[in-house]
Amino acid sequence: MTYNYLTNQYLVTSERQMTKRILITGATSGIGYQLVIDYLNAGHYVYAVGRNQTVLQQLKQLGAMIIIADLTDRNQAIDSIQNMLQQTPLDVVICCAGICQYVDITHINSTHTTNSSNSASQTINTMSSASSELLGFDSAKIMDVMNTNFGTLVHTIEAVLPYLQQSKGRLVALGSASAFVPFVRAEAYASSKSAVHYLIKTLQLSLKPYDIDVSLVIPGFVDTPMTAQNDFDMPFLQTVEQASQAIRKGIENGEDVIEFPKRLTVPLKTLGMLPNVVWERVSDRLNK
Ligand SMILES: NC(=O)c1ccc[n+]([C@@H]2O[C@H](COP(=O)([O-])OP(=O)(O)OC[C@H]3O[C@@H](n4cnc5c(N)ncnc54)[C@H](OP(=O)(O)O)[C@@H]3O)[C@@H](O)[C@H]2O)c1
Repeated sequence: MTYNYLTNQYLVTSERQMTKRILITGATSGIGYQLVIDYLNAGHYVYAVGRNQTVLQQLKQLGAMIIIADLTDRNQAIDSIQNMLQQTPLDVVICCAGICQYVDITHINSTHTTNSSNSASQTINTMSSASSELLGFDSAKIMDVMNTNFGTLVHTIEAVLPYLQQSKGRLVALGSASAFVPFVRAEAYASSKSAVHYLIKTLQLSLKPYDIDVSLVIPGFVDTPMTAQNDFDMPFLQTVEQASQAIRKGIENGEDVIEFPKRLTVPLKTLGMLPNVVWERVSDRLNK
């Protein structure tokens, strides 16, 4: 074991063998934050990207180089990342920036009252009609989730591709096991993650000739500020330390798909391949 005086921590032997330059988005919270800490502890150079300046300053104290950017803004994303990197190649880029918002479709029963007057007799009739209105399909909220989960990713990829090409590095993006099957309320979040899965699987093919490796991370539930809002059971909930370890190990092993915990992801993936009627029954039970 070796001691890292920057972070006052011991280094894990396998990770200190080769110092890497690693850029991490979503670095100010949850999984991204833990990855920054663990890679710094292992002696790597880390570029931490986010908006929360207080947390970024703390990471700077620990040895990270920081990039303040709202990655939903294409110009801001590209300029801030490239201005910081200048000519420095990157070995690994891990895109963790994301948000989760649920779509709650509900209905209300409303009664409309209309007045109609008959001029001849001067009598006024009051007509009532009951109707059911669907509320909650908020397209602005859905696009906000898409812009954050998909937009921040494509902007980051555009910014870092030249740097990954220089070092024949690895691009890593956070998908989600929620994309395997349709979950009620996850219309926005899981649609955005399905888009991420498709993009990343395609880039695994299109970037191969340029020697850029691409990994898709598919976590189940991880205990972070994002999942703190969940009011339902989260089976096989992982800690951020477990998530970070699984991701770092997958990257080190050059895995194309980094899934964890398998106890959750494998059954969900299998359900997603079965006829719709099977998942409909499971979903009905979950939503009772
Ligand atoms: N937690 C889970 O169970 C779970 C499961 C599957 C997949 N994931 C995925 O893993 C990733 C990390 O999730 P988490 O649970 O660690 O979430 P988190 O704790 O809420 O962290 C989200 C991060 O995204 C950053 N971010 C959000 N909007 C941004 C923007 N416009 N520009 C730049 N950065 C932005 C936030 O930083 P700033 O506010 O500083 O910008 C924050 O650091 C996400 O992509 C999530 O979808 C999580």
